[in-house]
Amino acid sequence: MSLVKVELGARSYDIVIGNRIALSHLPENARGGKRLFVFDDKTYELYAGAFAERNEFCFSFGRGEADKRFDKMITICQAAIANHLDRSGELVAVGGGVTGDMTGFAAAIYLRGINFIQMPTTLLAMVDSSVGGKTAVDLPEGKNLVGVFHQPDLVLIDTEFLRTLPEKELHCGVAEVVKMAIGFDEVFFKRLEEMGGKLSKVESFMPDAEDIIRRSCELKADVVRRDETETVSGVRELLNFGHTFGHAMETLSDFSLSHGEGVAIGMVLAGRAAMMRNMWGEAEQMRMIKLLKAAGLPVDVPKTMDFKDILEVMRRDKKNRGGKITLILPRRIGELTVVRDFSDQELEQVWQSAVQGSYHD
Ligand SMILES: NC(=O)c1ccc[n+]([C@@H]2O[C@H](COP(=O)([O-])OP(=O)(O)OC[C@H]3O[C@@H](n4cnc5c(N)ncnc54)[C@H](O)[C@@H]3O)[C@@H](O)[C@H]2O)c1
Ligand SMILES: [Zn+2]
Repeated sequence: MSLVKVELGARSYDIVIGNRIALSHLPENARGGKRLFVFDDKTYELYAGAFAERNEFCFSFGRGEADKRFDKMITICQAAIANHLDRSGELVAVGGGVTGDMTGFAAAIYLRGINFIQMPTTLLAMVDSSVGGKTAVDLPEGKNLVGVFHQPDLVLIDTEFLRTLPEKELHCGVAEVVKMAIGFDEVFFKRLEEMGGKLSKVESFMPDAEDIIRRSCELKADVVRRDETETVSGVRELLNFGHTFGHAMETLSDFSLSHGEGVAIGMVLAGRAAMMRNMWGEAEQMRMIKLLKAAGLPVDVPKTMDFKDILEVMRRDKKNRGGKITLILPRRIGELTVVRDFSDQELEQVWQSAVQGSYHD
């Protein structure tokens, strides 16, 4: 088992990582109150039985991202009322990022805030969304537009959940792992390079899962410690590496491109942008591309997409400051920088160079 501490003063918490620990290492509710376990339909079907056997209250809010809505989040609060949770009660999210974001939001506002445990079941949630206290729901106008910061009291990561994870979802998580390595830790990047194709299949990923998740969580915890609420300019923002172009492509594909796939191609585009500014070399770009491909992720832009549409979506990005499109660019493996002075023409050049050159070899 591994332990990572998220140091946030009074809001500090532990991330505990291990195999088959979901039931055995869930501590008693220290406040003595009742607990409600929150799932989405899929994780409910797969895993609620094991919790129900122990007489825990289990509830599914719905289908996942399509139900990541305010009204569905309120049904979690209503289930808490129905099960008589008072202020000493606790919500436990058992699912991917959607379940975690919605349950965290409900825990933040139910009775003006109760305790909350993250038990992530996707790799993305294990390495990214369950750590850091961002909670949110979507609006018809866009994703994650309404939410609050509410840190969990514990993140309990049981790698055994990964055994049922579809490969595409594994790849999504690996894209964020690669992001953390390029952003913050060259030694970790080399470790991933050594794993290569083992990153692309659940079975070959499993032996290294705990170690990879631990390092990713340490890196994310450090960013969160330095900038808990994304107010220290440019610190937590760095986690958006690959996400500016990535999110735009994901949106324009009508979500046929997964988040992780968008981020993978987005990192390649950010690499191209950095090369234009002579900040990043061809050799490093090729190392990044080789690793992404080995992990089963795409690296080429969808050629059917139009740059004008991409630009429009990027302009609407809520992470922009003062109307300027923010790019997070790599300087070297292990270091990123925030850049806000790319003109539309330069962005178009980046896009067109990617449309023309592909990385098939
Ligand atoms: N709070 C944050 O800091 C943060 C960071 C990144 C992403 N997010 C959010 O996280 C969400 C994406 O998270 P995600 O990729 O985990 O998506 P998700 O929660 O939708 O899960 C993906 C799919 O996998 C299924 N699933 C979950 N665990 C499973 C398992 N063990 N076996 C089989 N199937 C399983 C789910 O039912 C779902 O269909 C987005 O809504 C995004 O906005 C939040
Ligand atoms: Zn992401």
